[in-house]
Amino acid sequence: MEIRPTTDTDLDVFVDTVHAAFGRFPETPIEGGGLWWSALEMDRCLLALTADGRPVGTAAAHSFELTLPGETPVPAAGVTAVGVLPSHRRQGVLSTMMRHQLAELRARGEFLSVLLASEAPIYGRFGYGPATYTARLTVPRHQAALAVPRARGVADAPATGSDNGSVAVLRRAECGETLEEVYDRYRRAQPGALSRPHRWWALRAGQPPISPAPRYVAVHRDADGVPDGYASYSIDSGTLTVDETIATDNAVFTALARFVLGHDLVTTGVFKHVPPEHPLRWQFADFRAGEVSGDTDWLWVRLLDVPRALTARGWFMDGELVLDVADPFLGEHGRYLLTVREGKADCVPTDREPDLSLDVSDLGSVYLGGTAPSTLVRAGHMRAHRPGAATLADALFRTDRPPHCLHWF
Ligand SMILES: CC(C)(COP(=O)(O)OP(=O)(O)OC[C@H]1O[C@@H](n2cnc3c(N)ncnc32)[C@H](O)[C@@H]1OP(=O)(O)O)[C@@H](O)C(=O)NCCC(=O)NCCS
Repeated sequence: MEIRPTTDTDLDVFVDTVHAAFGRFPETPIEGGGLWWSALEMDRCLLALTADGRPVGTAAAHSFELTLPGETPVPAAGVTAVGVLPSHRRQGVLSTMMRHQLAELRARGEFLSVLLASEAPIYGRFGYGPATYTARLTVPRHQAALAVPRARGVADAPATGSDNGSVAVLRRAECGETLEEVYDRYRRAQPGALSRPHRWWALRAGQPPISPAPRYVAVHRDADGVPDGYASYSIDSGTLTVDETIATDNAVFTALARFVLGHDLVTTGVFKHVPPEHPLRWQFADFRAGEVSGDTDWLWVRLLDVPRALTARGWFMDGELVLDVADPFLGEHGRYLLTVREGKADCVPTDREPDLSLDVSDLGSVYLGGTAPSTLVRAGHMRAHRPGAATLADALFRTDRPPHCLHWF
């Protein structure tokens, strides 16, 4: 089996192979076909070929930035377009490609990669763990009244309703640059969020609101007229569905939700991609107004350099933990002393007795603060070696803001 980068002359072979792996036919240009593929980086697309040169597998990576807790954007490989022809499955083609790709990411100096998994059982063995979660919130309009916030008088109470900003309804085609600018501001502050490289916006590659799919966009501006949030949406048979609500703070989110749920001729508002524990449910006068569904994993994280990854993120409590980390896929193992002081971590090899033993995929799951280590201890995946170790790990890994990602790639 040969694994090699795609060349200028065989990108079409790469794309055909991915389509065949997913059992899909190429989209027509009318549907925006080809745009997503044009966002691929040629030198990051891999083809797996049989000994006689037939393409049987594909894997690619985008050069994204991932925002870590503490508002720290770092380079992250966004693994995508993974497929093996149905005729060649369960013969180790993906395993060979994953090994090749992980080595290549390290050679580039990247210390973590991320992906969206088509099926949950595929990627744990390669060291990826689910790290962010997302759900949709469905709200019947007749139940959608917002409660009067109990913290009135507190200067930054987000739902006071005294929003001095404004909302304008624009068409997607009219406001691309505004959306790109607002999204970029939002993602730099949101742990778990990915950059959307300018190329993606320029090419209109991806899902709404990037894609050419027709959408209305409610753009929120602050009192000075500066755009600080948007909701892209469509209406069908009385249901207004928001693809994504991007807000640089809670008050802006509330203003956009108020706009969506106040829309005439709409019986139901659906917010896709709502983070877990989003305050919106608490803001309804009727706590049961928002029905949560489609609760699922979104971003999976794979760490390739444990000390670098742990020292790159921000921390919100001082403490010390010894982590014994196994990486069975790469045949590696390390024991590290993690010391956090004033928001910064130091992480060095140690011989000390471990507090926790874990697989690198579980470290990926807890890394952004979206999964509590104690949950994985209770699930039997992580081992706590002394009483209180899991509680301490929970407190240490917790972040100021739950991680969330809504970029599809
Ligand atoms: C997922 C896919 C790429 C796997 O490729 P593959 O070459 O068959 O994978 P491998 O042979 O290297 O499998 C390695 C191991 O993972 C397991 N595995 C692979 N795909 C799996 C799946 N979908 N569900 C459960 N286990 C899976 C294999 O059984 C094997 O286990 P083993 O080592 O215990 O025998 C291939 O099935 C595919 O193209 N599926 C459709 C497209 C898709 O879903 N792509 C992923 C996009 S995120």
